[in-house]
Amino acid sequence: MVIQFLLFLAFYAIARRLLLKVRNLPPSPFPTLPVIGHLHLLKKHLHLLKKPLHRSLSQISRWHGPVTLLQFGSRHVLVISSPAAAEECLAKNDVIFANRPRLLAGKHLGYNYTSLAWSPYGNHWRNLRRIASLEILSTNRLLTLLSIRTSEVRSLLRLLAKSGGQSLNMKSAFFELMLNVMMQMIAGKRYYGENVGEVEEARKFREIVTESFRIGGVTNIGDFLPFLRWMGPKGLEEKMMALHKKRDEFMQSLIDESQSSEGDESLEMAAEGGKRKTLIQVLLSLRETEPEYYKDETVKSLMLVLLLGGTDTSVATMEWAMSAMLNHPEILKKAQAEIDEVVGHDRIVNESDLPKLSYLHCIMNETMRMYPVGPLLIPHESAEECCVGGYRVPRGTMLLINLFSIQNNPKYWPDAAKFKPERFEGMEGVRDGYKMMPFGSGRRGCPGENLALRMVGLTLGSLIQCFEWNRISDELIDMTEGTGLSMPKAQPLLAKCRPRSFTSDLLSQA
Ligand code: HEM
Ligand SMILES: *[C@@H]1O[C@H](CO)[C@@H](O)[C@H](O)[C@H]1NC(C)=O
Ligand SMILES: *[C@@H]1O[C@H](CO)[C@@H](O)[C@H](O)[C@H]1NC(C)=O
Ligand SMILES: *[C@@H]1O[C@H](CO)[C@@H](O)[C@H](O)[C@H]1NC(C)=O
Repeated sequence: MVIQFLLFLAFYAIARRLLLKVRNLPPSPFPTLPVIGHLHLLKKHLHLLKKPLHRSLSQISRWHGPVTLLQFGSRHVLVISSPAAAEECLAKNDVIFANRPRLLAGKHLGYNYTSLAWSPYGNHWRNLRRIASLEILSTNRLLTLLSIRTSEVRSLLRLLAKSGGQSLNMKSAFFELMLNVMMQMIAGKRYYGENVGEVEEARKFREIVTESFRIGGVTNIGDFLPFLRWMGPKGLEEKMMALHKKRDEFMQSLIDESQSSEGDESLEMAAEGGKRKTLIQVLLSLRETEPEYYKDETVKSLMLVLLLGGTDTSVATMEWAMSAMLNHPEILKKAQAEIDEVVGHDRIVNESDLPKLSYLHCIMNETMRMYPVGPLLIPHESAEECCVGGYRVPRGTMLLINLFSIQNNPKYWPDAAKFKPERFEGMEGVRDGYKMMPFGSGRRGCPGENLALRMVGLTLGSLIQCFEWNRISDELIDMTEGTGLSMPKAQPLLAKCRPRSFTSDLLSQA
């Protein structure tokens, strides 16, 4: 019996391999089980160990090569883990892979697949993308919103200066900073820290944010793979729908408020006096010329994408960067010396200084190399059959580019496991193929890169310039990553800081 079974298995494996060859599909781990496909390979991800998905996939790629075809339930999934194959997908086959798969989050939290991040490739997406890059995230718009970023960072500096050397939760500090920046851009309001106006509204907003990240945080494979819905925590879908309703109502109230104050003369006067417009006001004023593109639902979904897509990613990047520097005090010292030399002690670093702070940039690049907060990008999907690495990839295949694996592979990065910003020195403005792309690449690449780099740079620069930083104990900071589609640190960063001798003078001028 046993022998027969083994013979059968061997025969089956060989036949399968031949079949793959004939159909010219990419290599695929053995066995592919009925119904669940390769999900048994991701047990650790599914079960108690809660291994992050990009780690499980890296392991699979180590065995089967940089172009691997998996089957998640009935869905084909192409896993890519080399720069050359990534280039084929995101450059040569950019248009074919510009679609997104229909996942649960896109349905319930992405306005039924119509929001910018979840919309399929087509006219609707193209319009949203145009609005986002020309009206919301363009260099010009970012310049008009400069004072928001500056004043929010100052406000964080003041808060830290008052900490008296106590242990601080940097993750929440960065979160409050980013959320205030985003909400000020969107609606001119701040909901955290000093001088918060409408208390009840602020409470509601904070509730929505906490819930969004909690529900985002339980990203289980069932949420990720519609087929496995039933395995997810009970009621996840209902929770998503309830959350969507809350978010939608909140954004609607901001729009209504903005509309009702439109005819308000005092506001218009203020606008003429140089007061900037909020993003909601910008979009509502565009509605006058192109009403079909600026429906309430479009405005709401765009604002939510900014708020939720921009916050978590930037916060996690700042947190990883500070953590890495605290584990390498010599790097922190070197960055501080650079800022002292370029900016001095008479003023706080500002955004115009950033291009001159090349070591700070190296630190940011090295952080985004080792800890890319979109380790698998956002899943793409092929709209037609195409060829990758010489293999045939069927239409409707979900694409996961394992950026984490590419950027941490010693084959492409000597000494890959070491945090070494110096590796980027002298590489300013050089793009080294597809070895590094923390913001993705091609049509679906991140439209918020510019904003993110400004916020991360300004925040880190100011913290390094104004304070001496320390870990809360002699132990190194734990750099393990948690689970979820974005790559959070498993443990939130705790740290201590002391203002430098000149800091209180600078803060009182500001
Ligand atoms: C350090 C911060 C950030 C990182 C590392 C990051 C990274 C990424 C990545 C990897 C993607 C997916 C690309 C792909 O699927 O090929 C993406 C998409 C996106 N990002 Fe970011 N991002 C960051 C900040 C932001 C900010 C600040 C915003 C907006 C305010 C933003 C808005 C978006 C949007 C709307 C998409 C979807 C684009 C589309 O599907 O067409 N991101 N980002
Ligand atoms: C979502 O869109 C599909 C068509 O793409 C439509 O059939 C469905 O009714 C929509 N669902 C909701 C809740 O709007
Ligand atoms: C930054 O500071 C310098 C020196 O005070 C000033 O010339 C520059 O305009 C400032 N830039 C911004 C963006 O505030
Ligand atoms: C950081 O990386 C980007 C490519 O991702 C590159 O364009 C830039 O020049 C790099 N900066 C430095 C200082 O190496």
